[in-house]
Amino acid sequence: MNRILTGIQSTNIPHLGNILGAIIPAIQKSKLSNVESLFFIADLHSLTSVKNAQQITESTMAVAATWLAFGLDINKTIFYRQSRVPQVTELTWYLNCFTPYPMLANAHSFKDKSNRLSDVNAGLFTYPVLMAADILLYDAEIVPVGKDQLQHIEITADIAKAFNHQLGNEILKIPQASIDTNVMIIPGTNGGKMSKSQNNFINIFLPEKELKKIINSIVTDSTPIESPKNPNTCNAFAIYKLLADVEQTQQMQNNYLNGGMGYGHVKNAIFELILDKYKSERNEYTRLMNNKIELEKTLQIGEKKASEIANKKLEQIRLVLGYK
Ligand code: TRP
Repeated sequence: MNRILTGIQSTNIPHLGNILGAIIPAIQKSKLSNVESLFFIADLHSLTSVKNAQQITESTMAVAATWLAFGLDINKTIFYRQSRVPQVTELTWYLNCFTPYPMLANAHSFKDKSNRLSDVNAGLFTYPVLMAADILLYDAEIVPVGKDQLQHIEITADIAKAFNHQLGNEILKIPQASIDTNVMIIPGTNGGKMSKSQNNFINIFLPEKELKKIINSIVTDSTPIESPKNPNTCNAFAIYKLLADVEQTQQMQNNYLNGGMGYGHVKNAIFELILDKYKSERNEYTRLMNNKIELEKTLQIGEKKASEIANKKLEQIRLVLGYK
């Protein structure tokens, strides 16, 4: 059994890029028979940037509803909110005291954020230590992350080694990052990588009218309807291709090459595909977001299981530190 664990950012409603690039692949991995997976919503990490209770709660629920709507099986996976297993903050403190200051000061992500953001708080600085606690509290072996998080997993391994070495034991398990090298880059409505920060994302859960508006905002060139068009340089085609099957894609490609088709047609086809392909997910998402009590109960199931693992591990850690 391999224990895999990963944290999911909770600052925004997941968009099509998150869903195709991260959520669906992670759910597929969690179905393998030789893995035990822990997926959590990193809502404590969100506090480094978001100071708004309503936004924290709403986006956490939206993230949870998305994962569940896409078929995450809570009987096979431990799915929880980081903040509801607060044992992680106790471990964070212990780990802080084994983390060399320069290691955090030199972390790429901290340097980048501290240059860019106006709110440079100490939470931003110790962000990787909370991540290390997330991982080490559960003896996670494999941590699937995007490339941007690789250094944080290396920091986690270093902290764990320092802890084990200084206390003369092997209590913390050294984790390994798993970077999916063929992650799809999902293009956004303006052709750049789909991301919240570029505001070029498609929220597939929007009501039809708003969804249509976003899809109509996909940037295309001004080739007239009757002229042949190049599918390979067209952003709308790139998005269409992600959603369509091989046959549909081939047909659309012919439409481009033959001319006589306007971009409005492609956009409409994208809209219809989203409604059709994600019909049950859209319904389930909306149902869950309108049934917060059910959502809350579902999360609490995972939180109970996570707490049990966390308590056992913390007991051992307190003991070696002399707090027991
Ligand atoms: N920082 C990660 C991100 O931005 C999310 C995260 C928090 C995480 N804790 C984690 C990922 C622990 C892996 C393991 O994507």
